[in-house]
Amino acid sequence: MKKRIGVLLSGRGSNFEALADAISAGRIPNAEIALVISNHEDAPGIARARSRGIPALVLPSKGLQREAYDRQAVAALREKQVELVCLAGFMRLLSPFFIQSFPGAILNIHPSLLPSFPGLEAQKQALEYGVKFAGCTVHFVDENLDAGPILLQSVVPVRDDDTEQTLSARILAEEHKLYPEAVRLVLEGRYSIQARRVILTAQDRK
Ligand code: GAR
Repeated sequence: MKKRIGVLLSGRGSNFEALADAISAGRIPNAEIALVISNHEDAPGIARARSRGIPALVLPSKGLQREAYDRQAVAALREKQVELVCLAGFMRLLSPFFIQSFPGAILNIHPSLLPSFPGLEAQKQALEYGVKFAGCTVHFVDENLDAGPILLQSVVPVRDDDTEQTLSARILAEEHKLYPEAVRLVLEGRYSIQARRVILTAQDRK
């Protein structure tokens, strides 16, 4: 049976599409996206999923307590027998209930070299701080914001004439390569975790 991925998103959905494209192209073998969930009705990512024939569910979060929301999301993911949850621009913190429902099986992508610049507007934070290198991180999700063990990172230079838009675009291009690679490694079990360090199997080391 194919490994079943659930994607949670709040907006554009370009990382979701990068995952879907990588699966179609065989770069993440033996996998399928079983469900896309968004907390926003008008998230373009939901329309993108539907146009690909991938099941897409809107669960509005407004007015709901964090765990009440997460119980709905976990139930929907369980119904689709999801094994790996990928956060792809999902702008909500997960509750302990959600984290414990998928132990070691939730990934997030963040547009900075964590632990620098967690939270919102990471690219703007990096520009304003004045760093010369920025990038993106795929990490396991724990109960803290953008804080779990780091699986992969990719570095991009910050140019003197960068704006938030140009830097974000350069990082996003790397995100679209990094996330599928990280998902493949996890689905194939090609890593171990020692304290905070994610150690890849020898053949996957760069
Ligand atoms: C991406 O840049 C992703 O790294 C970021 O939101 C964007 C979503 O774009 N995620 C976070 O900032 C999470 N803290 P997308 O909807 O086109 O994938």
